[in-house]
Amino acid sequence: MDVIIRPVRVEDAEAIHEMRTRPRCMWGTLQIPSLTVEQVRKQIAEMPDTMHSFVAEVDGRVVGQISLHTRRGRSAHCAEIGMMVHDDYQGRGIGTRLMEAIVDLADRWLGLQRLELEVYPDNEPAVRLYRRFGFVEEGRRRAAAWRGGAFTDTLIMGRLRPGSEAAAQAEGSD
Ligand SMILES: CC(C)(COP(=O)(O)OP(=O)(O)OC[C@H]1O[C@@H](n2cnc3c(N)ncnc32)[C@H](O)[C@@H]1OP(=O)(O)O)[C@@H](O)C(=O)NCCC(=O)NCCS
Repeated sequence: MDVIIRPVRVEDAEAIHEMRTRPRCMWGTLQIPSLTVEQVRKQIAEMPDTMHSFVAEVDGRVVGQISLHTRRGRSAHCAEIGMMVHDDYQGRGIGTRLMEAIVDLADRWLGLQRLELEVYPDNEPAVRLYRRFGFVEEGRRRAAAWRGGAFTDTLIMGRLRPGSEAAAQAEGSD
């Protein structure tokens, strides 16, 4: 399967909307079924320069997205990540390709030292993927999200860039 990873475009809005409103994508994220294509188009068109977003394309179809949002001020060395792969394309390595691209951007082009994200504790594929890229569990927010009629906790996971000053300092304080 040929997968192309490239920056998101406004023309991707429809495909991204379709992906975001699929059951497993909604289950694993904070998306809601009433999301409109227009809202997605606006988000892409008005993306702030603190936001970086790649999509995965297979046979000309957008089937995955990963975004990184850099923090400001004294947390400017940090960024938050969110991602998803279309329900019909999960478990085929596309999430791995997207994560490779965003980690490369963060480590080698933006000079970030800390990546962070939130994930539902029962989202095994996601937690496994994040651990594989060096994310570790740092905490748990109890009943932090409402999902399909019940509250769910979220895990906070973080990755300090190997060899960075932040990683050296965190190791020293362990
Ligand atoms: C989480 C997600 C982005 C991963 O993308 P993906 O393309 O499926 O990921 P990959 O195929 O590269 O790898 C995922 C890992 O989960 C495993 N996996 C895939 N489907 C699985 C399943 N149904 N149950 C358990 N493990 C599964 C893969 O074998 C792989 O394991 P490994 O890291 O030990 O090799 C994707 O499943 C998804 O979009 N889920 C719905 C939305 C979501 O949860 N987003 C993340 C929010 S924090």
